[in-house]
Amino acid sequence: MNTVLTSSPEKAAAFIRAGDVVAFPTETVYGLGADSFNPDAVEKIFEAKGRPQDNPLIVHVANLGQIEGLAADVTDTAWRLIDRFFPGPLTIILRRHPDVPSIVTAGLDTVGIRMPSHPVAQEFLTACDTPVAAPSANLSGRPSPTSWQTVHANLNGRISCILKGGRTDVGIESTVLDCSRRTPMVLRAGGVTLEDLQEIVPRTRMADEIPDRPLSPGQVHRHYVPNASVQLVSHPSEAQPSASAAFIGLDAPSNGAAFGLTRMCESKEAYAHELFDFFYECDRLEMETIYCQKVDEKGLGRGLMDRLLRAAQR
Ligand code: TXA
Ligand code: MG
Repeated sequence: MNTVLTSSPEKAAAFIRAGDVVAFPTETVYGLGADSFNPDAVEKIFEAKGRPQDNPLIVHVANLGQIEGLAADVTDTAWRLIDRFFPGPLTIILRRHPDVPSIVTAGLDTVGIRMPSHPVAQEFLTACDTPVAAPSANLSGRPSPTSWQTVHANLNGRISCILKGGRTDVGIESTVLDCSRRTPMVLRAGGVTLEDLQEIVPRTRMADEIPDRPLSPGQVHRHYVPNASVQLVSHPSEAQPSASAAFIGLDAPSNGAAFGLTRMCESKEAYAHELFDFFYECDRLEMETIYCQKVDEKGLGRGLMDRLLRAAQR
């Protein structure tokens, strides 16, 4: 398959309307989209990524009006969160409208909905004129792509079109918040922090604080794994420098030149922005070990530590 590269949201949207699959930028990571009401088109996403069919997709909307066609029942709590955080890096899980194809929700009775704030994503979604189901635009199990070049390296020849935007801003995925029960539960930490959510709905909890919580299907699969082995350290002095070892973190190693590659980040936000890009760069340079400095689990640190722990698990 020839993969068309374009900077035109309108041109990319024509592929969606024709039932094809398009990679597009969002403020979190690049997504791989198809018309959410066309099950044959959605099927192509799973094929291109090699994604397990039991993992539901997030549906991306251009405007609040599209939510009514996707969710059976939007609670007052959900509307308050939508009011505050849409558009932005938050996915809200609601009970699904019966018209949403089951391939999108992996047979669940809920659906994840997100409205990206990235201006190119907004132009694209508006031109698609239909909600767009999209996971991250990586091969299943690999880190999420934060540049169109990484999407191209992962998926060239497997998808119809890549809509080019710059590097994504947040760098890790959206926060997935289950609003289908009384207590909103964070199933995946991400761009919107627990503290931000609790300002609007104080009873919001991390799902792992709640006994017998329902697992998000995506959380049981292998994730974010570069080819190199990922080792977590509290301080750069714990890392073993060598030409085939890389280091990323908040503090500079005293012997930085002894590593094959280092990246210093001045804040947790900068670290999240860099992390997946750094993983892909380490793979290009055939690094064997990537040392990642741990961060405190506050604010964006929760989402960042979640990605680091998963990347270190093999
Ligand atoms: O930032 C993001 O969220 C990016 C951009 C492209 O929007 N998308 C993304 O999609 O990361 P994906 O498919 O890689 O991750 C979606 C996560 C998975 O863990 C999935 O299991 C969970 O959301 N999810 C989706 N729908 C769900 C549902 N109805 N119930 C529970 N979890 C759901
Ligand atoms: Mg993903």
